[in-house]
Amino acid sequence: MKTFDAIEKRHSTREYKDQPVPKEMLEALVDAGRRAPSARAVEPWEFVVVTDRGRLDILASLVSTGAFLKQATACIVVLCEDVKYFLEDGAAATQNILLAATDLGLGTCWIAGDKKEYAPDALKLLDVPPGYKLVSLVAVGWPAKSSHQHKKRKLKEVIHWERFVERPRNKDPRIERVLEANSKLFPPK
Ligand SMILES: Cc1cc2nc3c(=O)[nH]c(=O)nc-3n(C[C@H](O)[C@H](O)[C@H](O)COP(=O)(O)O)c2cc1C
Repeated sequence: MKTFDAIEKRHSTREYKDQPVPKEMLEALVDAGRRAPSARAVEPWEFVVVTDRGRLDILASLVSTGAFLKQATACIVVLCEDVKYFLEDGAAATQNILLAATDLGLGTCWIAGDKKEYAPDALKLLDVPPGYKLVSLVAVGWPAKSSHQHKKRKLKEVIHWERFVERPRNKDPRIERVLEANSKLFPPK
């Protein structure tokens, strides 16, 4: 698959078939992850591949925003040593995994890590030693149905040539609802 095709085809999959992902494919995904760029070339990452049904089910119950791990047949947990650019490095590795999985016809979903309240419990479940951050959990499996990428803002809305040009932003009603709720909770001073 061409790189640009993988970028266009990649989308979040949250429904999976009950069909295992071959070990070689999971290894290929981690191989793609470890080839990501990293600040100062420190490569702070480690990848825990979870395929055991029982462990996936525990993760699904711990990880409030990833209950669909109950269906996924694998999860690649991206960890980084707590270095200055851990989040950027780990995010680059995560995106490589998503694109490589798309190329293999696998479905994935990026599940949030470090900022979530479940991060310490997930690290504990996986016996991660102190000093590592949970960057992401990537659900992996064979998609149960065909789907497509969430609608994106248009190129002409996001591109600026030479300098930033302010222009009215198309409003997404979901974002508007969050902003409205926040402004009630935290009224401007
Ligand atoms: C940093 C990050 C954290 C995310 N966390 C979650 C998550 O915890 N649970 C989830 O279902 N999706 C999560 N997603 C997936 C997004 O919801 C998804 O990418 C977005 O809705 C756009 O859809 P698309 O991936 O099909 O383009 C996350 C994505 C990113 C980049």
